[in-house]
Amino acid sequence: MILDHIGIAVANLDQAKAMYEKILQTPAYHEETINSQGVRVAFFKTGDDSKIELLEGLTVESPISKYIERKGEGIHHVAYLVEDIKAEIERMKAAGFHPLQEEPKIGAGNKLVFFFHPKSTGGVLTELCQKIKE
Ligand code: CO
Repeated sequence: MILDHIGIAVANLDQAKAMYEKILQTPAYHEETINSQGVRVAFFKTGDDSKIELLEGLTVESPISKYIERKGEGIHHVAYLVEDIKAEIERMKAAGFHPLQEEPKIGAGNKLVFFFHPKSTGGVLTELCQKIKE
């Protein structure tokens, strides 16, 4: 598995974007609102394939807003790029990791995404993602 991105929960996407532009010295290359997940996201390239994903909740009910309420802003998840997400999900489940959903969902950047519960992965919410083949 390849490290694809680190997801960071932010209270204000525009402010966080401005800060990361200063840190990384590059503008966000992609922004997207994902209504099904209740988030607005911005991506920064940090190498050929690795990225930083900033996530802002769209409403107070959004999982990101609830996360910030409990834990404050900061690192929210780590995402790995896989070739065959269904096979990797089955492998991870068989190894005893607890899925947070039944099926992969369409996430940011035209990818299928799937999450494992941080209680089963040493405190780190773990995302698998796979590029959707066209
Ligand atoms: Co992500």
